Amino acid sequence: MTNSNPVPIVVLISGSGSNLQAIIDAVVRHEINGKIAAVISNRADAYGLKRAQAADIPTEVIDHLHYENRLAFDKEMLKRVSRYDAGLVLLAGFMRILSEEFVTPLQGRIFNIHPSLLPKFRGLHTHQRALEAGDKQHGCSVHFVTKELDGGPVILQARVPVLPSDTPDALAARVLKKEHIIYPLCVRWFCEQRLQMINDKVVMDGQPLPTPLRLEALDDSLALLG
Ligand code: GRF
Repeated sequence: MTNSNPVPIVVLISGSGSNLQAIIDAVVRHEINGKIAAVISNRADAYGLKRAQAADIPTEVIDHLHYENRLAFDKEMLKRVSRYDAGLVLLAGFMRILSEEFVTPLQGRIFNIHPSLLPKFRGLHTHQRALEAGDKQHGCSVHFVTKELDGGPVILQARVPVLPSDTPDALAARVLKKEHIIYPLCVRWFCEQRLQMINDKVVMDGQPLPTPLRLEALDDSLALLG
C-alpha cells in the first residue's frame, strides 16, 4: 500500500449496489488507498444508496427523467462528479449509456464492470446470451470506459463454468461473486498508481498489457496481487 493521499472515488449506480458494497468493504479493510467521496444514482429507489448511507458516504440522486435529453443529463452528471474532484469514477451497475461529453473529460480514470468476457456480449442480457450461444465458459470484465459502449480496454477478467442446469439467474449469481473480487482489485491497483490507460491500451506497472489479465492466473503471480 502506498502512503500517498487516498484517491477520491465517485461511484455511479442504478440498482442493488453489490459491487459498490464490495468496494466499500475493501476500503474499510484498507485494501484500497481510496476514499469513496460520493455515490450517485439515477434512481431514487436504488438499494445501493442505502448501502452508501450505512457506510456514511454522501449520496445524490440525479434522475435522468428530469432532463430533456441525454446530453443535458450527462452535463449535469459531469458537473456533480467534478465537484468531488474525483480521481477515479466507477460505473457499478449504472444503467445509462454515457455520451462522449461525459466520458472524454474522465478518460483514463473511469472504470466499468461488465458481466461478460468482453469483447463477447456487449450490452444487456449477457447471461441469457451466453446460455443461448452454448458457451461453456462465461465471466466478467473490468475495463476502462471509452466512448464506445462496453468497448474500452479490458484490465482484468474472471471466468466461471456454464453448467448444463444453468438458468440466467443462476449463472448471473456465479458471475457476480467474481465481480466482487475483480472490481476491488482493479480499484486497488489504480489507487496504487499501477494502472493507466495510454493510447487506448491498459498499462500495468509501466508495461502495456498484450491481453487482459485473468484472475485465475494471478495466483501464480503474487507480484500482481501484492
Ligand atoms: C452487475 O452484474 C454488473 O456487472 C452490471 O450490473 C450489475 C450490477 O450489480 N454492470 P450490482 O448493482 O453491483 O449489485
